[in-house]
Amino acid sequence: MKRSEINDIIRAGDDFIRSFGFLLPPFAYWSPQEMRDRRAEIGGILDGRLGWDITDYGQGRYQDLGLFLFTVRNGSEADLRRGGGMCYAEKIMITRRDQVSPMHRHIVKAEDIINRGGGVLALELYNSDAEGKVDRRSEVAVATDGVARRLEPGAILRLHPGQSVTLMPGNWHAFWGEGGDVLVGEVSTVNNDLTDNIFEEPIGRFAEIEEDAEPLHLLVSDYPRWFG
Ligand SMILES: [Fe+2]
Repeated sequence: MKRSEINDIIRAGDDFIRSFGFLLPPFAYWSPQEMRDRRAEIGGILDGRLGWDITDYGQGRYQDLGLFLFTVRNGSEADLRRGGGMCYAEKIMITRRDQVSPMHRHIVKAEDIINRGGGVLALELYNSDAEGKVDRRSEVAVATDGVARRLEPGAILRLHPGQSVTLMPGNWHAFWGEGGDVLVGEVSTVNNDLTDNIFEEPIGRFAEIEEDAEPLHLLVSDYPRWFG
């Protein structure tokens, strides 16, 4: 993706999020230089990889295969291992109409995926088989807002604004917006996007960026290069 395109997606995404009355935290609007100036106090942002995350999954077709994410908060894997403390994370995301996030599962993370407004959020769901691959035979048991549901393998679960589904580790899922763009919330276990995404197809998690403009804001995938 070109940096200029990412800058445009950030601006348009920020407008979309605000249109629902949801506001991002202050660090969302810091410039790259401001982050550098604050380096001593933002270890929690860098370590937790909080912030902007615009991805085309490395495929160069963002409109068709892509996701806008902003990690609002993220806990500690050490706390998770010891079984207490900050074991949770939160993201706000935008999936545009017919823009797919490809079939994947998580190893550690359970996540509530929440339609916070806009169109219908469609999710295609499967279980894992004994090898952890997509199981095209068994029924999927999930909870939608606390209500137990059983779905045929590959069934499309449609969430309207206000509705959510709890996906457990091993639940394969792909999702997209139907009939409109969707503001999507995620409340989850501690999040590690470097290690905890298994995709069905060989695919990347982050965009490759062509630097044709200055970054408006850094992406989480920029942090290692900017801050070591
Ligand atoms: Fe997921």
